[in-house]
Amino acid sequence: MPTILVTGGNGYIGSHTVISLFENGYDVVIADNLSNSKMEVQNRLEQITGKRFKFYNVDCCDESALDKVFDENQIDSVIHFAGLKAVGESVKIPLEYYSNNIGSMISVLKSMEKHGVKKLVFSSSATVYGMSEDVPFTEQSPLGMCTNPYGWTKWMIEQILRDYAVAHPEMRICLLRYFNPVGAHESGLIGEDPRGIPNNLFPYISKVAGGTLECLTVFGDDYDTPDGTCLRDYIHVCDLAEGHVKAISFLGKTEDPVSVFNLGTGKGTSVKEAVSAFEKACGHPIKHVFGARRPGDIAVCYASTEKAERELGFKAKYGIDDMCASCWKWQTMNPEGLKD
Ligand code: NAD
Ligand code: UFG
Repeated sequence: MPTILVTGGNGYIGSHTVISLFENGYDVVIADNLSNSKMEVQNRLEQITGKRFKFYNVDCCDESALDKVFDENQIDSVIHFAGLKAVGESVKIPLEYYSNNIGSMISVLKSMEKHGVKKLVFSSSATVYGMSEDVPFTEQSPLGMCTNPYGWTKWMIEQILRDYAVAHPEMRICLLRYFNPVGAHESGLIGEDPRGIPNNLFPYISKVAGGTLECLTVFGDDYDTPDGTCLRDYIHVCDLAEGHVKAISFLGKTEDPVSVFNLGTGKGTSVKEAVSAFEKACGHPIKHVFGARRPGDIAVCYASTEKAERELGFKAKYGIDDMCASCWKWQTMNPEGLKD
């Protein structure tokens, strides 16, 4: 079976995708600089799959280090997850975000070109739809007016990849725009493991449910939504992982140099509904208070899933209850996260 290079494969979405690729018969090579993940993930992947994956501790901005990975392996396609992703942090250290996210994409492309590798899946984000609230977002919805440097890196990389594909029409590139990935592998052995106090809703709720944090602040209950809190399209990370397997197989068949797909469920869930669903999963109330709106948040964000269903054959299987149950299992089995 073909070998897939998974950059950032030690991270949250990457590690779940490695499992799906393995289960679908692919060989996997991982390149990650461990800047936002721990080596223990590799042990957990081995526990789940029975296989030790080939792992390179490399910075994907380092083209010569990447060349070595391509020289030593017969890579068929690349899934590029490696990147920095914290919205608030990107406002404080924009240059790190631009140089790491854009720099790593360019180095990966150059190294792919030297080694004749033509298939690439890129982790983009619904954040490229910016401040628009014209939901559901379709792949044709207008882009831009991102609210932070992180979002702009995704927007710029999409443009770089389109430009590259004009010059290299033999390329087959898939831009996957993820909505809100949450949940964990059913084993409870891998999941989202943020350092410090989480910024995102699900890791924060998990820590309140588990007793490590005291109280969740719900950012705003005066939005123009049914219950006043924001709606998001939460997608189970294992569904998202399957979406990548579909994308790899799609790239083998398409004639288009660049393809774009939303990966979401098409359903908006409010913050209040997410808290209730988590309470059901953990079996006790989750302490929360209502606070001010968080700057930059939009009221509603959910995907049109039609194109992914039609062309990729991708449809999310899991609902919000499964997402909460898996998050809770991961939290109870690893209350302190993974060891360094
Ligand atoms: P993550 O931080 O858990 O995983 C990213 C991995 O990449 C980490 O293991 C990190 O160590 C590694 N990495 C970062 N920079 C690197 C570099 N220069 N060289 C090598 N490795 C590097 O994040 P995630 O949630 O798994 O996200 C994966 C990708 O999906 C990112 O590109 C992110 O922007 C994108 N994305 C994530 C979300 C989300 O909500 N999680 C939403 C949309 C898009
Ligand atoms: N929220 C709270 N309290 C918290 C944290 C979040 O009420 O402590 C609310 C937010 O206001 C928002 C919802 O929960 O209404 C979801 O917030 P997240 O921070 O979990 O997710 P976002 O939708 O803000 O952003 C996420 C990723 C981005 C990505 C975007 C679209 O963090 O990287 O989805 O894919 F770009």
